[in-house]
Amino acid sequence: MSHPVNVVATKPFDGQKPGTSGLRKRVKVFQQEHYTENFVQAIFDSIKPDGMTLVVGGDGRFFSPEAVQIILKIGSANGVKKFILGKDGILSTPAASNVIRKYKADGGILLTASHNPGGPNNDFGLKYNVSNGGPAPESVTDKIYEITKTISQYKVIEAPPVDLSKIGETTFGPSQVQIIDSVTDYVTLLQDIFDFPLIKSFLLDNASSFRVLFDGLHGVTGPYAHAILVETLGLPPSAVQNCVPSPDFGGGHPDPNLTYARSLVDVVEANNIQFGAASDGDGDRNMIYGKGAFVTPSDSVAIIADWAHVIPYFKKGGVKGLARSMPTSKAIDLVAQKKGLEYFEVPTGWKFFGNLMDAGRLSICGEESFGTGSDHIREKDGIWAIIAWLNILAAANKESPNELIGINELLQKHYAKYGRSFFSRYDYEEVPSDGANKIVALLDEAIKTSSLNGTAHVAKTAAGQEFTIASVESFSYTDPIDGSVSTNQGQVLNFADGSRVVFRLSGTGSAGATVRMYVERYVAPEAGAAELGRDTAEGLKGLIEVALGITKLKESLGREEPTVIT
Ligand code: G6P
Ligand code: ZN
Repeated sequence: MSHPVNVVATKPFDGQKPGTSGLRKRVKVFQQEHYTENFVQAIFDSIKPDGMTLVVGGDGRFFSPEAVQIILKIGSANGVKKFILGKDGILSTPAASNVIRKYKADGGILLTASHNPGGPNNDFGLKYNVSNGGPAPESVTDKIYEITKTISQYKVIEAPPVDLSKIGETTFGPSQVQIIDSVTDYVTLLQDIFDFPLIKSFLLDNASSFRVLFDGLHGVTGPYAHAILVETLGLPPSAVQNCVPSPDFGGGHPDPNLTYARSLVDVVEANNIQFGAASDGDGDRNMIYGKGAFVTPSDSVAIIADWAHVIPYFKKGGVKGLARSMPTSKAIDLVAQKKGLEYFEVPTGWKFFGNLMDAGRLSICGEESFGTGSDHIREKDGIWAIIAWLNILAAANKESPNELIGINELLQKHYAKYGRSFFSRYDYEEVPSDGANKIVALLDEAIKTSSLNGTAHVAKTAAGQEFTIASVESFSYTDPIDGSVSTNQGQVLNFADGSRVVFRLSGTGSAGATVRMYVERYVAPEAGAAELGRDTAEGLKGLIEVALGITKLKESLGREEPTVIT
């Protein structure tokens, strides 16, 4: 049977360059006539989709239903053999990565702008993932971008829209469409990874002394969290909140950090909840936060690595290696050294972990930007991290039946064993570019001339603290698998006591420049419990003062305070 294909004439749009996380723009930009169609056709032109199986799904944000139909019509006209779709076009980013791998698809198109707000006046996004389930490498996204610059036509089939609400198989023009439950495969995946019976009995035995609250921030993870925490692990429905996904995330900013996940922090504090957690709009980020205890993402991944032996997936397959992004604290390095594991420091961006995982050299990794994950898929995974914590706490409590080990107890035990890397990030959002460039230039000069090396800086706000600069460097990375080199990935002040301050310009900001300052100060176990247990801001005060002084940051940016502190 032949199917009518329409060829539609179009003209290129400027700026369709996918970033590390795909093309992210305002909804109104995507809604322009031919805009979304052009980009989708450019994806298909660059991947030669004839005979392919493709996964399609996203976080359900505003404009997703329309975009799914566009992808189906253009994909089918370009020869896609089979589409696998999440029901209603919904798949969290980790779930999509899993579906691509599990069904051996050739790739997938994810409809998401991650943690950016949604709705008619906010963001939409499209991202192409390849057959390993991870984001397309730059060679592919560069090709897509090149095609968008000269595109003159796109192809669509003539067919009525697919009903996305019906699970099952149908035909769509010359293609097959399989609509699957968005949640089932992901629940099965986590059941194979974690010790669900152990977690379940721990939660049941401690129902009143260890209460759990998950906040979906109105993003895509609501149904996943409900299926796992309530239906599988037996927690009461009150253990989840804001778990009905909404196209505009309830008008909020679906980013799990201390600033934007206030809805979680407030209830955890008010109701003395021992274990709180949140995930972002598309489900790949996470925050762990219990009563009075915030876990930095840097500590979180180090603790998961330290306790990997209680997680069946790692018990079975072993831990092949550990990794973190450069600005992430070195807490995980200490775990790797103690366990004799290979470990890596990669540039910011999850894609750098994928090559190491595919080569069988990396099992557990994380980024300070609230990303934690493992080689079970090729995206970071918010709910995976949260269930990893529950698995670890259940196991720790089984080992020590006479005390209740909560988040804070686990943190303090970790610090007593490894020492503590106090860590904080200061974000200066939407600052003038020339101010940001001044800081970069000042540090470049210091790198070139070594002028700061060996200089000592006394902190006035922290009695007795003095920091001597050992070296200043610009971070470059050579991928050990494919040899590709990434330069200028952030400037680092290394201090003689092992402390570090990193400066980096954000690669995801949408207006002006965003300067990020990452501050890390290591305190050894010998310092004792009182020193190790200090408030983060207190522990970092002196170093922050020194770093701001050396870089003349406030003067250059014209900002007294950062926009966000995490
Ligand atoms: C995205 C990526 C992360 C990365 C982050 C950095 O969320 O998925 O892997 O850490 O961007 O963002 P930034 O704004 O610091 O460049
Ligand atoms: Zn995300």
